Amino acid sequence: MKTIVINASPRKKWNTAEVMQAAQKGAESVGAETEYINLYDLVFKGCRSCLICKMKDKTKGKCYWRDDLTPLIEKILDADALLIGTPIYFGEPTSEFRALVERLIFCNLSYDDGSSYYSGKVNVGIFYTMNAPFDFFEKNMKDSLASTEFLFSFLNGEVVSYPICDTLQVHDYSKYNMAGFSQELKEKQLILQYPKDIEKAFEIGAELSK
Ligand SMILES: Cc1cc2nc3c(=O)[nH]c(=O)nc-3n(C[C@H](O)[C@H](O)[C@H](O)COP(=O)(O)O)c2cc1C
Repeated sequence: MKTIVINASPRKKWNTAEVMQAAQKGAESVGAETEYINLYDLVFKGCRSCLICKMKDKTKGKCYWRDDLTPLIEKILDADALLIGTPIYFGEPTSEFRALVERLIFCNLSYDDGSSYYSGKVNVGIFYTMNAPFDFFEKNMKDSLASTEFLFSFLNGEVVSYPICDTLQVHDYSKYNMAGFSQELKEKQLILQYPKDIEKAFEIGAELSK
C-alpha cells in the first residue's frame, strides 16, 4: 500500500501538520509506504483551462499542465490512499488545496457523461483544522464542505472527513489583537480534545491505508 500525506497549510509545524504527521504514523502502523508533502513548498497554479485533457487525441485522466504539481498528481493517482489536511480559511479549504483539487479531478472528469476516467481506487482522508468550535462547524460549515468531499469520489475509493475544531492559532494570544478568543478556553481544548483528534487522525490514516 502506498499513502500520500499532504499538509495543505502554509505552516509546517502547526495544527494541520501535527494532524497529518499522526495520520502518516497511522498509515505506517499498518505497513503502508508513505510520502509526506508540504503543499506550500511547491510552485504551481490551479487548473489553467487549457482543456488538453479533454482533447480526443490525448490520453484521458492526465493533467497536461506542467509544474510542481505534475509529479504529485501522478503520485496520488498511483497511490492507494491520500491523506490531506487543510486549515479552514473563510469557511473553505486553503487556496492551494483547492488548486490541487482542480488539477487532480478536472482531468479525470468526463465531459461526455460526468463519469470518472480514473480506473484505479484511492481512499481519501480529509482533515480540516479551524478556529470554529465543533457546534459551529456542524451547523454552518459541514454541508458546504461536502461539495469538496464529493469531488474526491472521482478517485473511486472511500472518502472520509474529520474536523479538528477550536485549534490554537498562536501560542500567546496576549501578544495579538485577538480579543475574540480566550487563551484559557483554547488551552482547555488543547488538553481535553486535541489529543483525541490526533488519535482519530492516526486511526483514519491506518484504516484508509489497509
Ligand atoms: C486567512 C485565514 C482565514 C481563516 N478563516 C477561518 C475561518 O473561516 N473559520 C475558522 O474556523 N478558522 C479560520 N482561520 C483559522 C485557521 O483555520 C486555524 O487557525 C487553523 O487551525 C490553522 O491551521 P495551521 O495551524 O495548520 O496553520 C483562518 C486563518 C487564516 C490565516
